[in-house]
Amino acid sequence: MNTMSVSRRKFAQLLGISAAAVVVRPSLSFAKQPEHATGTAGIVRLSANENPYGPSPKSHRAMQNSFEVCCRYPDEANDVLIEKLAKLNGVSRDQIVLGDGSSEILKLSAEAFTGPTQGKLIVADPTFEAILEYSKANGAEVVKVPLTKSFAHDLPKMSSAAKNGLIYICNPNNPTASITPKNELREFIANTPRETMILVDEAYFHYADSRDYESMIPLVKDHPHLIVARTFSKIYGMAGLRCGYCVAQPETIKRMHPFQMWDSVNVMALAAASASLDDVDQVANGRSLNSEAKNFVTAELDKIGYKQIPSQANFIMFDCKRPVVPLIQALKQHNVQVGRLFPALPNYMRVTVGKKTEMETFLTAFREVMAS
Ligand SMILES: Cc1ncc(COP(=O)(O)O)c(C=O)c1O
Repeated sequence: MNTMSVSRRKFAQLLGISAAAVVVRPSLSFAKQPEHATGTAGIVRLSANENPYGPSPKSHRAMQNSFEVCCRYPDEANDVLIEKLAKLNGVSRDQIVLGDGSSEILKLSAEAFTGPTQGKLIVADPTFEAILEYSKANGAEVVKVPLTKSFAHDLPKMSSAAKNGLIYICNPNNPTASITPKNELREFIANTPRETMILVDEAYFHYADSRDYESMIPLVKDHPHLIVARTFSKIYGMAGLRCGYCVAQPETIKRMHPFQMWDSVNVMALAAASASLDDVDQVANGRSLNSEAKNFVTAELDKIGYKQIPSQANFIMFDCKRPVVPLIQALKQHNVQVGRLFPALPNYMRVTVGKKTEMETFLTAFREVMAS
């Protein structure tokens, strides 16, 4: 929308492809919000499923290099990232929408596909709640369908509750870290009438390693009613930067565009996201550090008798065998922040997998809290 004097090639260079810059990791200083206080000495934050290792060194360098273009609108940087994402996902550029975090994608989907005329929102219970709020604000009825006994989405029940509108499938699911098997999901997508949109949220895609798990992005080409959302907030460690995207057919994306804010993703986030896709180690390292710390904490919880839902994400959920709210509060007194209450599972605690040292601190505090 804005004419710029910086050429795309020059912009790509500014986004960090120039090699020589020194990587300086900035010290962290975040806003202090009640649930999200961080950067505060001594607080272990395991409440928001963030990646404690942060963005790739290439992203740090790219952000520093992008200082020069902070006075410009992000048109070219958008193009660079969209092109890379299209290539990565084997789709065309007009099949990608960038968002200010994948939260914006969820909001756009709610606005475009739910409401008094478009139809209901169908979700699992429990699941990530943001889209419920966006849909309600849009005047939509929300139908909650309990997860199955194995903590998968109950696809047949969701299907029969749907008529037009939008079905939200969070896979792996937040807060349970469980998956909905790929074959069931494929069949469900194929059998859902095209008038009903399906949004598959793959925020935790990179952490899932089950044979039963698969991305639904390859199905987009055959299904105009399918949208798949991804984020840079998890494995790419960019939660504070805000960048996400979705893949869908061009016609579907055209229906979302009117609700989209112009230039919603900032140049820093675009630079960091773009550079992190070039870092071959970011995903592999993130996965292995996560599984090491996860194996540690789950083994320790097993030893003291707390059974977890098998986790396919960077967080765990387990049965505390008593109401979780007082435990959340007691852990806070020990400077350990864990996930909020999910009313459908009132005895279950959601804990982000942080660094191993953080998991040690959590375990010490948890043992003390349970003993008192
Ligand atoms: C399943 C799921 N989807 C989307 C989001 C939103 O993430 P972001 O807006 O940072 O991309 C989250 C955040 O925790 C999440 O758990």
